[in-house]
This record gives sequence, structure tokens and C-alpha cells, in this order.
Amino acid sequence: MADYLTLPILAETGYAVLDAAAPLTDSAQWTELEYVSWRSSGVTRFAPLASFAGEVECNGFWNQTPPRTDKDGVWIDLQTALAPDLVRRAMEPGAGVGRCRVVELQPNTYADAVYNLHLDDNNRLNPRDTGWVVRGLENLTDDPGSLLILRSDRFDPSTETRIPLPAGTRVVIDTQRLWHAVWHRGSAPRYAMVTSWESGPELGTYLAAQHARTSVRRVELPAGLVEDAQHEMHRRIEDRRLALEAVDRAFELPTMSEA
Ligand SMILES: [Fe+2]
Repeated sequence: MADYLTLPILAETGYAVLDAAAPLTDSAQWTELEYVSWRSSGVTRFAPLASFAGEVECNGFWNQTPPRTDKDGVWIDLQTALAPDLVRRAMEPGAGVGRCRVVELQPNTYADAVYNLHLDDNNRLNPRDTGWVVRGLENLTDDPGSLLILRSDRFDPSTETRIPLPAGTRVVIDTQRLWHAVWHRGSAPRYAMVTSWESGPELGTYLAAQHARTSVRRVELPAGLVEDAQHEMHRRIEDRRLALEAVDRAFELPTMSEA
């Protein structure tokens, strides 16, 4: 049966870490952008650089008229004029770009991040036989104490990968396959650029050139911290179920996020 074009390097673990990019020092390229609130995990705001039709908004392309998958994003002139280096980096692989935005995340806890774990809905309406959409993440601020949390099983911490986020950290992730969230331990907001890229020969060649690797050195966390976060996640999910039940709405375990 025909299927999507995927990248062999992502088949094993669902993510690949690239050589770090030279950190960008001109922080105005992300702080001066126009931000919009958007439902996502954690306390976040988004500054879109490419959107469905070049407007400053973050809605999924499949929610618009006419709906399409997360490809062929339209650059937003007023935003890209402020962030030329970001645009250059998003276009560097030569892969098709869908949505592209800067994400601002406020400091949170490990338990918050575990509760926030979600999958992205990257490939809705994506035609078979075309490239599977994955996400590129580049950390803009220097957050070496913060961790990108990835899990293949949402509820199983033994499936967790933790990737520290110094400035210039770059990871390509199949975020429709891997549960993900960020534990940001800083005192100031953390900024990252997230780009929807189309899988294909261009992205594959780029990943190889950037020495993409599919495992990282293990970052240990205290067992008690992990255990407490598991309890907290289940408690919050149950709270949500009860709250919805109280207003007579069916509870559905949230899984997908727009972010
Ligand atoms: Fe996400």
C-alpha cells in the first residue's frame, strides 16, 4: 500500500539531534515579534513567522478555508522582516515549510511538563505518497538546565528521553509519534523556533550533513521527582475528568495539541 515518504533516520527513535547551531545573539529577532495567545501546553505565547495565509495567527491549516495539510506556509512579511536569521534557518534544509513560529514558554516544573506531554496533529489531510510532516526545534535562548522531554509512551517514564536546551540546540522530531513537552527551569521565558518540515530527500540530506544522531547521553533525574510527577499527572487528569463531568460534558483524555 502506498504510504508517506518518511526519513529512515527518524524510524528508530522518532527524533534526531543535529549539530548545535551558532547561537543567535540578536534577541530582538524573537522579542520584537508580534505574539498571539494560542492553546498549547504550558503557559505559552506564539509568534508566527509562516501561517496559512500570511496572517499573524496560529490556527491549523486544516481548520481554514480551504483546508489543507501543514505544508506551504506563507511567510508573514511584518514578522520575517524582524527575524531574517530565523527565516534563513527555517529555510536552510530546503525542505517544504508549513507553519513556522517562535514559542515563548514561561518557567514551569517537571510535573507540569509531564502533564503537558502531547502529540502534534501534523499530518491531518496530508495526501498519501507525499512527505510526512515533522517538526524542527531550535532553542534560541540559552537554557542548559531546561529539558525537552520526549516519551514514546505517555504514561511510562522509562520511555523518556531528556534533551538539555543550550542556545543553538536543534532537534528534528516526529511529534505526531513522540509525546513531548519542555521543562523550563529558567527564571526568564524560554524561546524556541518550531518549524513544520516536509520529509523528503532535502531534509534527509540536511540531517546527514548536520550529523544527526538518534540517541543522547542520559540525563538522570531523582526517582522521587519522576514518581511524584507521575502521581501529579494522574491526579490532574482525574481532576479534569471530574470537572467536565460536573458540567455534564464527556471526558476525553486529551492527546493531540495544536502546538
Ligand atoms: Fe507540540
